[in-house]
Amino acid sequence: MNSLEVTFAGVKLRNPLILASATPSWDGERANLGWKAGAGAVIPKSFAPPTKWAQHPRCGRMRLVKHGKNRIGMVNIELYTTMTLKDWLDTELDKACEGDGVIIASIVAHPDPKDTGRNAKLIEETGQVAMFEINVSCPMPADSSKVGFQMGNDPEMCYRQVQALKKAVRLPVGIKLTPTTHNMVPMAQASEKAGADFVTIGNSIRSFAGVDIKTGLPKLPAYGGYSGPAIKPVTQRHVSEVAKAVNIPISACGGISTWEDVVEYMMLGATTVQTCTSIMWHGYAYFQILLKGLSNYLKREKLDSFDAIRGKALPHIVPIDELSKRPVMVAKVKPLKCINLTKGGCGLCGKVCFYGAIRFAPKLRLDRERCDGCGLCTEICPTEALKLVSK
Ligand SMILES: Cc1cc2nc3c(=O)[nH]c(=O)nc-3n(C[C@H](O)[C@H](O)[C@H](O)COP(=O)(O)O)c2cc1C
Repeated sequence: MNSLEVTFAGVKLRNPLILASATPSWDGERANLGWKAGAGAVIPKSFAPPTKWAQHPRCGRMRLVKHGKNRIGMVNIELYTTMTLKDWLDTELDKACEGDGVIIASIVAHPDPKDTGRNAKLIEETGQVAMFEINVSCPMPADSSKVGFQMGNDPEMCYRQVQALKKAVRLPVGIKLTPTTHNMVPMAQASEKAGADFVTIGNSIRSFAGVDIKTGLPKLPAYGGYSGPAIKPVTQRHVSEVAKAVNIPISACGGISTWEDVVEYMMLGATTVQTCTSIMWHGYAYFQILLKGLSNYLKREKLDSFDAIRGKALPHIVPIDELSKRPVMVAKVKPLKCINLTKGGCGLCGKVCFYGAIRFAPKLRLDRERCDGCGLCTEICPTEALKLVSK
């Protein structure tokens, strides 16, 4: 019998998929839709210190980033929940929990950690949440505010926030770190030292939505957060670096849109995986597609659980200077698969070979001596007719 169940920071979840804190969980009813659709837990939209600027801009706040016709990401300038904590506790939390929904409360770290702790205590007293996630990673706050991603770049502040929450509440406490940094490890280690029960890696990346070249105006008028499939390589870098550096569980968040992405994140050390943009683009029912893929994967691989694959890829990520010790590789053509050799035409590989190893005279000829083993031809070939082999 294989099981999608995971134990995360001491809490049993029916599966590792979590609806990330964002628009799809902005009120109780919506948060519960995520639960009913099959998520293992739901994180409602973050509570924040009340400030004037922290209202949702209602003048447009989301832009898709496209490559040709394909959407590859999204930039948003949405801020925190516009609901007061009191309203949320009085009217929304009951709805969010309907049907035994597992709720992880997200609190934006207040400038004074004691205030973050005070709010967490109020939430804990309801007896309706399973754990806490401190948000030090919102990419929008103004430079002067020192909350959001700016706080999340300061290990000392991360330490103090986790410490304050650990003092204030008994439930597990995690911290959602920012990918808008060159190195997340010091913040993750400081949080672990302060007693964090998990880290979430990461959030959307501080970014810019582009310029409308007809008007010369920015597509969104402020810096926002970049999310969706395009940010997966950035998030994967952070997840794997942190996984090697801490011993607390990781919730990976950023760019997850297929069940294969989930497996990749597990192999990089994640215990749970959060998703936001894929649900915003495909609806709550998308959880069922991801779950089906994961369940079939466990069956096919004859795995009882995800435990056997967690962190599998990590030992194989080496420092860049180790690469010179690896055997030299060159491209090789599989003639029967090559469009140029079988039918003529194509020639894509020649256009991307900057070492003069691929020529057409008139048919494709590959010069092993000139090949530099970069592998771009193997990636670009539409029929997988090229592969890298040992020289
Ligand atoms: C419109 C929008 C609103 C968001 N609001 C919040 C929020 O209130 N709190 C939070 O922690 N993250 C927020 N996020 C970040 C997401 O939870 C998630 O970390 C990020 O989008 C990366 O995941 P994804 O690539 O699956 O979307 C928001 C993201 C989007 C797109």
